[in-house]
Amino acid sequence: MPDEPLYFTTPIYYANDEPHLGHTYTTVVADTLVRFWRQRGRDAFFVTGTDEHGDKIARAAAAGGLPPKALADRLSTLFESTWRDLGIEPGWFVRTTDPAHESFVRRILSEVHAKGDIYFGHYRGLYCYGCERFYQERELVDGLCPDHKVAPTEIAEENYFFRMEKYQERVLRLLESEPDLVTPEGYRNEVLALLREPIGDLSISRPKSRLDWGIELPFDDRYVTYVWFDALLSYVSAVDAAGRPDLWPHVRHVIGKDILKQHTIFWLTMLMSAELPLYRRLHVHGHWLSDGQKMSKSLGNVVHPRVMAARYGFDAFRYHILREMAFGQDADFTESGLVTRLNADLANGLGNLASRVLAMQQRYFEGAVQPLAPEAADLALRDAFAIARRELDEHVAALAFHRGLEAVWRALDHANKYVTDTAPFRLAKDAGQRPRVGAILHELLEALRVTAQLVAPVLPETARRLLAQLGLPETTLGELDRPWGSTFVSGHRTLPPEALFPRVEAPAS
Ligand code: MSP
Repeated sequence: MPDEPLYFTTPIYYANDEPHLGHTYTTVVADTLVRFWRQRGRDAFFVTGTDEHGDKIARAAAAGGLPPKALADRLSTLFESTWRDLGIEPGWFVRTTDPAHESFVRRILSEVHAKGDIYFGHYRGLYCYGCERFYQERELVDGLCPDHKVAPTEIAEENYFFRMEKYQERVLRLLESEPDLVTPEGYRNEVLALLREPIGDLSISRPKSRLDWGIELPFDDRYVTYVWFDALLSYVSAVDAAGRPDLWPHVRHVIGKDILKQHTIFWLTMLMSAELPLYRRLHVHGHWLSDGQKMSKSLGNVVHPRVMAARYGFDAFRYHILREMAFGQDADFTESGLVTRLNADLANGLGNLASRVLAMQQRYFEGAVQPLAPEAADLALRDAFAIARRELDEHVAALAFHRGLEAVWRALDHANKYVTDTAPFRLAKDAGQRPRVGAILHELLEALRVTAQLVAPVLPETARRLLAQLGLPETTLGELDRPWGSTFVSGHRTLPPEALFPRVEAPAS
């Protein structure tokens, strides 16, 4: 049987803010996974987009004196162009104001209503505008929303309700029987705990008298659809719009822990009621803090991807965030941490190796690659890279990017030590050692070729530049299983080195 296709999603981001580190991390994770799996021959696709309806957008627009659609257009374009400018290319960019998405939401609402899973009722509850959801008393911390640290607003109104509780037992059984559905495990346990208490039904409408920025209910024009009922369905409508409806059953969502409940309790019950296939995986990451504090506009510590890309290059930023955060746990972002890592791992570990090897290759052989003649140290070098490949594959498949990168850098350390130990720069002084010098450099060129391949999903731009300096075509990136020694045919010439990562003295700020 052929491998199943892989469909990754990021949350669709609220169109009321500009892209920051939090959004960028999830998007880089999805982009890296798609590159990684495509390189391994898999059909992989990813979707991101913007969430444009609801109170949050309506309020932000009103504050700026704009119609909601004008604000949404502006910020949606900003998200889309930011990803594109940074070299991230989703297979589809979905907007909840897309007419195709709106009609899909109305169709699902009609179906769920027709089967009796939506009813009309009174509601009094505590609403957090930041989260766009009602809270139960016991979920609050000292009476405040645990995420936004503000007291929720008490709201009493007549609304339509989705019979979420009807599916509670089924969701509980699903999570119990599929231990890998929600990963890492700690998040699965959080959801299981929520499911051991009554979950209640979900208010899925908002009276237009209070909020009219949303998709009108197909069965009552006095109401619009609740933003989460609208937003979650974008994961399905996006692949329909992209002409890949076959992908839906293979979906793997990547989200931050802030929206775990919505992606388990709300979403799984909605899918069950709509009789759609359930998702394959939900991968949950922790939060980025900035210098130990939550990132927020008011604290002025928000990290913006374009700023980081302009200062350090986007590859360095991608590398740092994937290397720094253990997927699932919170992590702290500091610019000085990025600079230290850029200098140590990228400028020294990788960049320096590439420039030394290519410079010697140029100096001693004018770039012409010499025959191999493997000795024990050479075989050990090959082993180090074979191990790195195995470990990288294992860790990235488990979303442990930091461990995967550690494994590659262990091989790079090995290669740097191999240069010191075999000392081609010393042997080169002895004409009789010329064949050995050529063989050592050939081993190192293969090590650089494999490095370019292994780091490509995380450092796409660097991988392309390194391959170009090695005189290899970009298609080499897809030839992961090429045997060592078969890359550089007789007469092949490498190019003079160009620094991949210049050293950075100190954070620019
Ligand atoms: N619009 C909803 C999601 C609907 S999905 C059907 C939403 N949008 S959001 O703009 O607030 O984005 C939340 C997501 O952004 C998080 O789940 C996470 O992916 C990312 N992050 C935002 N801030 C973050 C951190 N400080 N740290 C890590 N990621 C966080 O929620």
